[in-house]
Amino acid sequence: MLSKQEYIEKAESKIYKTYNRFPVVFDHGDGVRLYDTDGQEYLDFGAGIAVMGLGYNDPEFNTALKEQVDKLLHTSNLFYNVPAVEAGELILKASGMDKVFFTNSGTEAVEGALKIARRYAYNKDGGHDHEIIAMNHSFHGRSLGALSVTGNDHYQEPFKPLLPGIQFADFNDLDSVKALVNHKTCAIIMETIQGEGGIYPAEEEFLKGVRALCDEHDMLLILDEIQCGMGRTGTMFAWQKYGVKPDVMTVAKALGNGVPVGAFLAAGKAATAMSPGDHGTTYGGNPFVTAAASKVLELFEKRKLVDHVKEVGEYLAEKLKSLADRYDIIKEQRGMGLIQGLEFSVPVAPIVSKALSEQKLVLISAGTNIIRFVPPLVIEKEDVDEMIEKLEAVLEQPL
Ligand SMILES: Cc1ncc(COP(=O)(O)O)c(C=O)c1O
Repeated sequence: MLSKQEYIEKAESKIYKTYNRFPVVFDHGDGVRLYDTDGQEYLDFGAGIAVMGLGYNDPEFNTALKEQVDKLLHTSNLFYNVPAVEAGELILKASGMDKVFFTNSGTEAVEGALKIARRYAYNKDGGHDHEIIAMNHSFHGRSLGALSVTGNDHYQEPFKPLLPGIQFADFNDLDSVKALVNHKTCAIIMETIQGEGGIYPAEEEFLKGVRALCDEHDMLLILDEIQCGMGRTGTMFAWQKYGVKPDVMTVAKALGNGVPVGAFLAAGKAATAMSPGDHGTTYGGNPFVTAAASKVLELFEKRKLVDHVKEVGEYLAEKLKSLADRYDIIKEQRGMGLIQGLEFSVPVAPIVSKALSEQKLVLISAGTNIIRFVPPLVIEKEDVDEMIEKLEAVLEQPL
């Protein structure tokens, strides 16, 4: 076995550098703990960027994966497979949507959602109404389509020209959306809670207003639930809190609990917009990944995980709020359930770095000044207390 430093040097010399990584090589995990190659234990409040909802090394989940490995990994979408049907049924039941398409990632789920919008416009008038409204400070992924609706100049600039016909409004500012709607607009896309942009939940009036606008102008409402969905807010999908239903929704991350699977789901008129031949993927929805998704959805139900998130999420919010009250450099606490943010008046990179190296606490940032808390959904109140203690130990030092 190589030393940590040797692994890092090899990685830096071999793996395409699009990330600045922390100098840690994780080896295995258990529950809400991660262990590095030196055997050091870490408390994880990042969950692999909101992925590991069930935590690490869940025995029931692992058994389901192993059984599927021994049975059938892949057949292609030219044939039917049992786990895809099971996962499909479960996710439609949980969401109340009408149709699902399984993808390989969140980004691809967004691509599919955008294609539904384009296809819907095409069905109406040959595609003349092809414009889409997206939000400033949003994040939807790195492919050229998903990047086109990601309201972040820094990510977009080197890759222009992107998709034409995308306009950006301000999140939680209904008038800014209204000002952009015209006879060519076919869809509005947004996250129900902006994640990468800094943990900003949609205000109820805003989301309801956008829904009404979509109904009035026959536009599709696409809600990106890739980060905030799958139980993280204390309902299975964040929009279920608002009494608003999207026409199209995207899901990924916690859907596979570490197995790469996403989905786009459609309801009503959006569910019949695409026809055979309009979209495809070799891997998407294969028996292995849908066995994972199916087990995740089954375990969510069986373990009443959403109720657990409600309880621990409230506790986390309280504790973060109290931290914000005690430290002047913390400007605000915001979020829902187990997707919470602390906005600082200073860049958080040194805090995140010290938490990792000195306190063995995994935290992730969102933007420059915000720490985002997206732990495994199985986290307990004692873990929250431990995290707060560790974070305070960092905040007590000069930054
Ligand atoms: C809201 C949202 N949409 C889309 C994506 C892209 O998903 P993926 O990285 O799985 O392609 C992300 C990833 O962080 C996300 O948070």
